[in-house]
Amino acid sequence: MNIKYLGHSAFEIETKGKKILIDPFLVCAPKYKPENIYDIFVTHGHSDHLGSAIEISKILGAPITAVFELAKYCAQHGAKTNDMGLGSWKDYSWGRVMLVPAFHSSSTPDGQYAGSPCGFIFEIEGQILYHAGDTCLNTEMKMIGDLYQPDIAMLPIGGKYTMDIEHAVKAAEWLGSSAIIPMHYNTFDAIQVDIESFERQIREIGKIPMVLAIESSLT
Ligand code: NI
Ligand code: MN
Repeated sequence: MNIKYLGHSAFEIETKGKKILIDPFLVCAPKYKPENIYDIFVTHGHSDHLGSAIEISKILGAPITAVFELAKYCAQHGAKTNDMGLGSWKDYSWGRVMLVPAFHSSSTPDGQYAGSPCGFIFEIEGQILYHAGDTCLNTEMKMIGDLYQPDIAMLPIGGKYTMDIEHAVKAAEWLGSSAIIPMHYNTFDAIQVDIESFERQIREIGKIPMVLAIESSLT
């Protein structure tokens, strides 16, 4: 498995030649070209997460998995979709996925209600990955830790619209993850952080901070 960071909250995960995209807002990764994408996942309707999902779906034919209302919006704009609710596994050819709660808001670019925001738990090649989406710290993370103990957690750390570093460190403890990939920081002025402080605090609780440069990969 290969996890590539595309900036902000966007990732490409490759498993056995198949690729998936999460929150493909790609303006931070101008050199990246989506190819061989099997599925696209979108945590909520805000444009810094929906990104190019609809365009990529239309060009490559990969369906967008999202909460019912957001999936409906994507379908109305010509994308292929898998609509889901929170709370049960869905099987894919490369693994399985569950939508879990995120505490945030969600509207489409034209201002429609986009359903509940969510995070994703992926099981790929026997590894559990958790992408938190945009969220504050919440006790659902204790449940996710209790049930699945994700090997790798992708957590927002930029503050203002999501958790900050202090709460991301607490989330890392609750999730029981050994490796933490920070996201949703330094993309714009309001979410600037001291990334070395994040790395230091994650190491202090005995976990590994995985700070990925844009367009670099964790294999
Ligand atoms: Ni948002
Ligand atoms: Mn956001």
